[in-house]
Amino acid sequence: MRSPLPLGILGSGKGSNFRAIANAIDAGTLHAEVRVVVSDVADAGILAFARERGVRAEYLPPGRFKTRLEPEAEDRLVALLKEAGAEWVVLAGYMRMVKAPLLDAFPRRIINIHPSLLPSFPGLEAWKQALAAGASETGCTVHYVDSGMDTGEVIAQSAVPVLPGDSPETLHARIQQAEHALYPAVLREIAER
Ligand code: GAR
Repeated sequence: MRSPLPLGILGSGKGSNFRAIANAIDAGTLHAEVRVVVSDVADAGILAFARERGVRAEYLPPGRFKTRLEPEAEDRLVALLKEAGAEWVVLAGYMRMVKAPLLDAFPRRIINIHPSLLPSFPGLEAWKQALAAGASETGCTVHYVDSGMDTGEVIAQSAVPVLPGDSPETLHARIQQAEHALYPAVLREIAER
């Protein structure tokens, strides 16, 4: 039997996508192993959940920039992921741009989930962008990460309707339900290759 796909997970928030991935691993529907969870936010829920599960959880001080890691921090991140044995890097609500050190260390091995049907609504709070644009449909996208913002090659998408009366919160919750099915499914496909 093949060894489980070794994942390094990066996140800045509550970590519901990481939970969905962990649940799929527990359920035996995803043959993967989370080697380390890294966050740029010291009190992020994703780190607390990793610790609860007994998964190695690391806070990485990001440095002085808001939208990316300081170069030294990104070098440390690469070292951490390599040392933990991660072969795929899974961005799960990671709110910074990824730069050359990480991209070069994991070529075509970094994936992200974004809460819209890319190329529509890249960037922050994509569900609010969809509401503001009056879209009747939005969704989520899993894509390879490149040096642009949400521009890498699309792997899979899942659509959800925008319903009359949706608030940003109700729409994001509906998109997240779709995310929690899509991300484990994409990882399963990668693990079975
Ligand atoms: C998810 O909706 C994800 O698509 C989004 O952040 C949320 C994280 O939720 N990511 C982005 O907007 C990236 N540009 P989670 O912490 O509960 O997984």
